[in-house]
Amino acid sequence: MPLPKAELHLHIEGTLEPELAFALAGRNGIVLPYADAEELRHKYRFKDLQSFLDLYYELMAVLRTEEDFTDLAEAYLAHAAAQGVRHAEIFFDPQAHRARGVPMGTVVAGLARALDRAPERHGVTTRLIMCFLRDESAESASETLAAAAPYLRHITGVGLDSAEVGHPPSKFREVYEEAARLGLRRVAHAGEEGPPAYVREALDVLGVERIDHGLRSMEDPELVARLVRDRVPLTVCPLSNVRLRTVDVLSDHPLRTMLEAGLMATVNSDDPAYFGGYAEDNVRAVADALRLTEEQLRELARNSFLASFLDDDEDLRSAYLAEVDAYVF
Ligand code: ADE
Ligand code: ZN
Repeated sequence: MPLPKAELHLHIEGTLEPELAFALAGRNGIVLPYADAEELRHKYRFKDLQSFLDLYYELMAVLRTEEDFTDLAEAYLAHAAAQGVRHAEIFFDPQAHRARGVPMGTVVAGLARALDRAPERHGVTTRLIMCFLRDESAESASETLAAAAPYLRHITGVGLDSAEVGHPPSKFREVYEEAARLGLRRVAHAGEEGPPAYVREALDVLGVERIDHGLRSMEDPELVARLVRDRVPLTVCPLSNVRLRTVDVLSDHPLRTMLEAGLMATVNSDDPAYFGGYAEDNVRAVADALRLTEEQLRELARNSFLASFLDDDEDLRSAYLAEVDAYVF
């Protein structure tokens, strides 16, 4: 059994395996421009974030009904449970679905059906985080938050994703202020391809509690000192960083340096269907490449629960931490 862990950086649309994409396409009468799942998988070679996003948005065309979103989440939860995930905080991209005529209610109801039964079926607790697409306008983000009003009981927080460079966090100041007023938790992708200044803006302007990726913070020692002092969690995604070429090879990944600097890093899978592995696959790969110690692996697992939004259920957090402490390698 793998080390128990929380997954805090996971795009549900990025869990769409080629086989499921073809099954959903068939069910919905959509013809994909690929012969089969194998041919599609061969397209999973990316030169940067944008080249991945192009395929990621294209394949979303197969997600149309509530049932599609339930099946997608169900498949992820089964994978996650097998990899030791006990708690998952799951991103979704409603603007990408609304643009195709799939309403917010369809997406949330479909996901919620799988998430609500996940503790019983898979032994996994969950939270849902709605992301704004940063390459869309600030007005579109505000409209999206307004459209989510009837569904906020299912939604714990907001995030910010998609093409980073040229779309600084400050563009979304107002919608994050509104999210805070609504009692939503706040996270944002920053420092994946964008500069350390975007990490500072996410903290100072958006008031985020966690940084997704945050890798390029390592270029700015003062920022690192601040992140260490304030115990700001970074949701690091090692296989994603290599596949999207922000890191050349896994053995060059800064995760070990980050832990040694005292940063509160966690390991996550980002878009596992596209990047070659789920949560434990990421842990194993980066642990082997960087020769992480058992104590560092335990620290990563502890961090994942400490950084989670389980605050409304402290007993559960304590129980998960006790499982990590009792784990025998
Ligand atoms: N959307 C899905 N995966 C993403 C990533 N790694 N960065 C930005 N946006 C994303
Ligand atoms: Zn991401």
